[in-house]
Amino acid sequence: MNLAVIGTGNIGLVTALCFAHKGHTVFCADIDHKKIANLQKGIAPVFEPSLHDLLQAQLCKNSIRFSISAKEAVQDAEVAFVTLGTPNTTAGLPDISAIEQFLTQLPNLNPHLRKVVIRSTVPPGTNLQLTAKFPGLHLIASPEFLREGSAIQDCLYPERVIVGSDSAADLNLFREIYMSFGLHDDQFLFMDPTSAEFSKYAANIFLASRISLMNEFSRICASTGADIKKIQQVLSTDRRIGSYFLDAGIGYGGSCFPKDIQAFINYARGINEDASITQAIQNSNTNQLERYYKLIISNLPEAHEKVLAIWGLSFKPETDDVRESVSLKLVEKLRYHYRLQLYDPKANTHAADLYRDTKTISISDCAEAALTGASALLICTDWSEFKNYDLFKMKSLLKYPVVFDGRHIYDPAHMRDLGFTYHTVGRH
Ligand code: UDX
Repeated sequence: MNLAVIGTGNIGLVTALCFAHKGHTVFCADIDHKKIANLQKGIAPVFEPSLHDLLQAQLCKNSIRFSISAKEAVQDAEVAFVTLGTPNTTAGLPDISAIEQFLTQLPNLNPHLRKVVIRSTVPPGTNLQLTAKFPGLHLIASPEFLREGSAIQDCLYPERVIVGSDSAADLNLFREIYMSFGLHDDQFLFMDPTSAEFSKYAANIFLASRISLMNEFSRICASTGADIKKIQQVLSTDRRIGSYFLDAGIGYGGSCFPKDIQAFINYARGINEDASITQAIQNSNTNQLERYYKLIISNLPEAHEKVLAIWGLSFKPETDDVRESVSLKLVEKLRYHYRLQLYDPKANTHAADLYRDTKTISISDCAEAALTGASALLICTDWSEFKNYDLFKMKSLLKYPVVFDGRHIYDPAHMRDLGFTYHTVGRH
């Protein structure tokens, strides 16, 4: 099929490339001239495993094209997928103006194209609202569940595809679009658009609730002498709970959880409904960051010649994305107490842009440089490079063998046997 993808952010680009990989002809549009120019040259705008290779392969096959012109992108399209950003407004609700702008223009761009799939994360009820505003269009709500760092895998092998529509014919449309994805029929979840939109928030909030609960348990473990990893082991061996998203740490970040959770809280408040559990999830995440900040300040006496090495700036491993990264939130609090030597395997460039003129912050081009001369090391992102690091080398490079492990990547007893002073929340 000829598909248009409007918006080439992380989700839009991965979605477009996977559709092209699966045999569709895809035309993408984005207003970011530089991004489009780079994509046309095969340069990916973000680090995402396999993204570069998939982009090169689709360009070679001529199965994907990029333009700043939405008119070009929709010219021959049978369906348009909207993956435009919906950042929270100052009122804390998703801004859907970019989507509305596209829908307003569409009849003039291609009067024959009516079917539009809204893949962006939008508040429940948006499809109904936009359908009333644009009666000439047929809008389908189909949120995605891609994780940065595994987005291509998640896109090629989706656990489910949501078809949020009042027309059962759209189920056949999605079966056609996803024909070569090898999905079982029961993986297409057909429902009303509002439930589809709601399900995106529900999934993210539920996942974040597991993290925030484990973080709350870890804080209480710190005061009781219990070991959060042992508790995780007990929980993960209960098939009703499962083993995913039970890693306590310094908290969740990223472009989705924080934004979606805040939006949902505000959305519920706007309809006079209680979202106190969702609010508690957000509060626990904030408390976790504060707890690690206090752990550092209380165990690393403040002195301006003190240097703190920080490993991990991206909000999670296998991405260079620093949006809402808890690492950078800690950097913002610690920069006034210490000189900071930052390192991340993929996010250094973004960090350099942020801290270019900051005297107390330096970006190290390797893990060793960040360690050299530091009074302590703080681990904020659980990159494999850090998990597998030579601890004898670490000890030799640090001025003092002090480690604050924000992601529980090392074993406390082993670290102490090696002569480290090891700090974390919830292990002893
Ligand atoms: C999330 C959802 O998982 C995905 O389905 C949705 O489409 C987009 O939002 P993403 O934000 O890319 O994906 O990353 P995710 O793997 O969910 O991690 C989010 C944050 O939670 C990261 O900061 C990560 O470090 C943290 N996390 C994750 C934990 O602290 N503990 C865990 O056990 C898992």
